[in-house]
Amino acid sequence: MQPHPMLKAHYTTADAKPVFIDGLFDQGAPHYDAIVDWGFLRSGATYRRWVQRHHGLRPGHHLLDVACGTGLVAVEAEKILGSAAHITCLDPSAGMLAVARTKLAARFVQGRAEALPFADASFDFLTMGYALRHVTDLETTFREYHRVLKPGGKLLILEVTKPASHAGAMVFDLYFGRIYPFLTRLFTRSGAARDMMRYYWESMDACVPPAAVLGALRSVGLVDVQRATALGLFSEYTAVKP
Ligand SMILES: C[S@@+](CC[C@H](N)C(=O)[O-])C[C@H]1O[C@@H](n2cnc3c(N)ncnc32)[C@H](O)[C@@H]1O
Repeated sequence: MQPHPMLKAHYTTADAKPVFIDGLFDQGAPHYDAIVDWGFLRSGATYRRWVQRHHGLRPGHHLLDVACGTGLVAVEAEKILGSAAHITCLDPSAGMLAVARTKLAARFVQGRAEALPFADASFDFLTMGYALRHVTDLETTFREYHRVLKPGGKLLILEVTKPASHAGAMVFDLYFGRIYPFLTRLFTRSGAARDMMRYYWESMDACVPPAAVLGALRSVGLVDVQRATALGLFSEYTAVKP
């Protein structure tokens, strides 16, 4: 199952999607941290640290951060683990990885969630922050997560989810669809940064509902599959490899 229908304004084949997305993040990488910082009212670092601790990341764990981007999840994980020695960061975008490399001494790998270049049963904990919409297929991705987790290992997928209520959806569309891309262009003076944030909204807007994500997680044999929410907007999907 695709995480959203084809966004034909940007690509018309499944093969073209990753090419488009890599270009988007390579170009937007220099601006990403600043945009996310003010766009989420400076809450991002605190939330990313809290949510990983809350869902069970502990010192001693070997962590895989898929779609690490500029490292915003991994730098908070380092504070919990006490070092980056057991953190592996994976992302397809060379531009995003280049920024992340300046922040922590983790292992960095260029690659995709759908084909992880790691041995079976390698990790205790797997995170994916705000990138599930970018994969080409949910089940393929989740089978890989199941494969690389150790028995008893846990995954945590963070997403922004369009509110179910009519009023909430209207505010969501106004902020992420119009205000956020407009302010991004204004502050960064970068059309590439604006396009990255506009696509951010388009893919969230078109995303399959949470029940479909939960179903896909269960379908690959993961157990204790759950979704918690914060502020009705932030989804925390968790699951365990039996
Ligand atoms: C919005 S950023 C999220 C970065 C970071 N995790 C965070 O919390 O801010 C999305 C990231 O997903 C990456 N990405 C896109 N397609 C991917 C794929 N198929 N597999 C893994 N990562 C992917 C992009 O390169 C980008 O760095």
